[in-house]
Amino acid sequence: MNTLLLAFLLCLLPCFSSKDTISFDESVADGQVIVSSGEKFSLGFFSPGASSKRYLGIWYTKVPVQTVVWVANRDNPINDTSGVLSFDNFGRNLVLWCCAGMNVTSSTSTTLWSTNIPASSSSGAGGKSMARLLDAGNLVLLLQKEPTKTTSDESNLVRWQSFDHPTDSVLPYMKIESDQKTGMDRILHAWKSPDDPASGDSSYYLDPNGVPQFMLYKGRTRIWRSGMWNGLQWSGVPTMRGVIFDMNVVNNENESTVVWGVMDPTITFRIYVHPSGNMRWAAWNDQQGKWFESFYMPNEPCDYYRHCGPNGNCDPYRDPGEFECSCIPGFKPKISTDWLMNDGSSGCVRKRPMNSNCGNGEGFVKLENAKVPDTTTGRLNPGMDLSTCRQECLKNCSCTAYLSSNLTSGIGCVTLYGDLLDTRVFANGGQDLYIRVDAIELGI
Ligand SMILES: *[C@@H]1O[C@H](CO)[C@@H](O)[C@H](O)[C@H]1NC(C)=O
Ligand SMILES: *[C@@H]1O[C@H](CO)[C@@H](O)[C@H](O)[C@H]1NC(C)=O
Ligand SMILES: *[C@@H]1O[C@H](CO)[C@@H](O)[C@H](O)[C@H]1NC(C)=O
Ligand SMILES: *[C@@H]1O[C@H](CO)[C@@H](O)[C@H](O)[C@H]1NC(C)=O
Ligand SMILES: *[C@@H]1O[C@H](CO)[C@@H](O)[C@H](O)[C@H]1NC(C)=O
Repeated sequence: MNTLLLAFLLCLLPCFSSKDTISFDESVADGQVIVSSGEKFSLGFFSPGASSKRYLGIWYTKVPVQTVVWVANRDNPINDTSGVLSFDNFGRNLVLWCCAGMNVTSSTSTTLWSTNIPASSSSGAGGKSMARLLDAGNLVLLLQKEPTKTTSDESNLVRWQSFDHPTDSVLPYMKIESDQKTGMDRILHAWKSPDDPASGDSSYYLDPNGVPQFMLYKGRTRIWRSGMWNGLQWSGVPTMRGVIFDMNVVNNENESTVVWGVMDPTITFRIYVHPSGNMRWAAWNDQQGKWFESFYMPNEPCDYYRHCGPNGNCDPYRDPGEFECSCIPGFKPKISTDWLMNDGSSGCVRKRPMNSNCGNGEGFVKLENAKVPDTTTGRLNPGMDLSTCRQECLKNCSCTAYLSSNLTSGIGCVTLYGDLLDTRVFANGGQDLYIRVDAIELGI
């Protein structure tokens, strides 16, 4: 068949509006679509699943199963097709409004969502904006200037971008910053259901406290944590080590940021919080015409936060029927009757109190293939090798463990204080965790 003709036929529908920009005097009505220059993503109005409500969102142009990665008005749906996206009267903010026919000045129009850039915004207050949908799936508002600039210059003119306001998905090259340090709402919230993009009760964010980790919550309950980045992998997801991702993790006194890249740019990939409350890593499989969800977390009892309680260790590879929880070296079950009934949530306590014994010949027992315990109260010691770190830990009676912070270079360590929370082991991957025990435990 004539490939030109085929291309023409395939193009008929999605190509009626192939522009990727909205200038300050233009608008996008329901039914119109903005398409990124390489056609990877589209912006427009959609109805999710069985719902008839209308939302403004961004989806993959070429994935035949409608997959929306960002929603503007997730909590403010439109009941009909009267939605319009346009700039405000100052040409500054993008505004989504509805319900007044095509008359933006009408008092009957309702504003459902806005980019909300303050008038005093440092990046060129007063000037007019234009919006562009990038091939990365990012909708950016740029200060409109003479088109004598390159793409890299444009980054200086960005006033707002959808990547800073994620819905439920992380896309490659989206910069994830910790909320506390920047004050931005970079918290992912799952959809309520496949028919309703409203904020569900599962959330996911980068917690910058101690050594940064991703945290998954259901309501106010912490369900799962990724573990810290150890230079090779997120310590709770050792299977993700490898060739697919190009991970850029920055963690210093000024910033905690993570940018995930994908080595092969032809891979269509996203990470998202599923309405059922787990994190999913999904890649589009063109041959099978479906999403391949290679990982989801949590997916076994040992993945659940604090499954074996404080100072417990979860080992899912024991013989069938055997309880997966045990105590870390030097500890015994706090409430042994609970443990006998296969409930480890009360955790473990020291066999002998450490405080009275501190500085009396303690040493460390190595737990191999471990998921690094919760580092929320841990301390990163950059540049410290493991033997220096051991000494550092021994100096402080509340230091309970240490470990390498960078498996790539072997330089840098983390010291942990107090109860060790949410330790588990992996069959493959994980890393050495050095747990402080007294001289009796060492058999000295
Ligand atoms: C949609 O309909 C609901 C229920 O009638 C109403 O509460 C809501 O305000 C309507 N939304 C808009 C944007 O008109
Ligand atoms: C838009 O609404 C305003 C206020 O209700 C009215 O004065 C104006 O004539 C309307 N414009 C159009 C094009 O309908
Ligand atoms: C943090 O910011 C300060 C002030 O801008 C700068 O002097 C310092 O070098 C930065 N530190 C790092 C690790 O980038
Ligand atoms: C030991 O470490 C804890 C936790 O970081 C800290 O609060 C405490 O001041 C340290 N104690 C000493 C003696 O350094
Ligand atoms: C780990 O060490 C390597 C090699 O020195 C360095 O490039 C990388 O940035 C370090 N990673 C972290 C997370 O510190």
